[in-house]
Amino acid sequence: MTLTKKILIVANWKMNLNVSQASLLVHKLDKKIPIHKDLEVVLAPPMLQLQPLSLQIDHRKFKLASQDAYYKDEGAYTGQVSFTMLSHLVQYGIVGHSERRNIFNESLTETAQKVAAAYRNGITPILCVGETKIERLSGETNQVLHDQVVSALSNITSEEVRSLVIAYEPVWAIGNGEPAKPKDVANAIKTIKLNVLELYGKKAAEEVRILYGGSVTPDTVSGYIRLPEVDGLLVGGASLNYLSFSDIVANAYRVGRGLTTKQDKA
Ligand code: 13P
Repeated sequence: MTLTKKILIVANWKMNLNVSQASLLVHKLDKKIPIHKDLEVVLAPPMLQLQPLSLQIDHRKFKLASQDAYYKDEGAYTGQVSFTMLSHLVQYGIVGHSERRNIFNESLTETAQKVAAAYRNGITPILCVGETKIERLSGETNQVLHDQVVSALSNITSEEVRSLVIAYEPVWAIGNGEPAKPKDVANAIKTIKLNVLELYGKKAAEEVRILYGGSVTPDTVSGYIRLPEVDGLLVGGASLNYLSFSDIVANAYRVGRGLTTKQDKA
């Protein structure tokens, strides 16, 4: 985290919560989370919940993100929702999440098309990158990150890349309570920044925001937010519980202001 950037905390609810459960969670989060001017909280509910939540949320406190969208703007694509349709509903769009890549076989090209589609429609992409356990064990982490970053950015301008958010989410750390060590996160992010620097120069590499995601809990927040490389967090499981998510936000805010957290003291 650097002093010039706002901390960004994103809640990815994945395929959980119906409309009334989502509304209840936001109601509880709203009571727990104050307006922070140095910190942005973004909620990525399932697609169906975006419209009702856009009417419910206090927009000074929460912004919305889509978890995915199709790269074409409109047409005969049964079952798909486009970034064009989301353009006035969300500010951010998660793109290339490992669950899209691995379960739905989303290719590097498709991810690149989605990044371009998000920008075309005025939505800031949160591009997810990260290696699997096998790739990590075979020493391929840097190559995988390079391929995912370089291919995803192939259709965008240097002006666009400056507002980009990249989430480093090692696949082996997602959803299993085994978060990556801050030292490994710092190294991976250095690689990502180097790739951005080689493509778009120093200014772009400095301005792109990079998040960590993978089994984040209130206890692990400070280890990541203290790193100069990390600008925020992408939270899955722990974002479904209002207490743990509001603790994550509170801890990130405290660490960003140079204070300690309850967990630091324990
Ligand atoms: P968990 O926090 O449940 O590991 O999920 C991380 C993630 O995939 C967020 O996009």
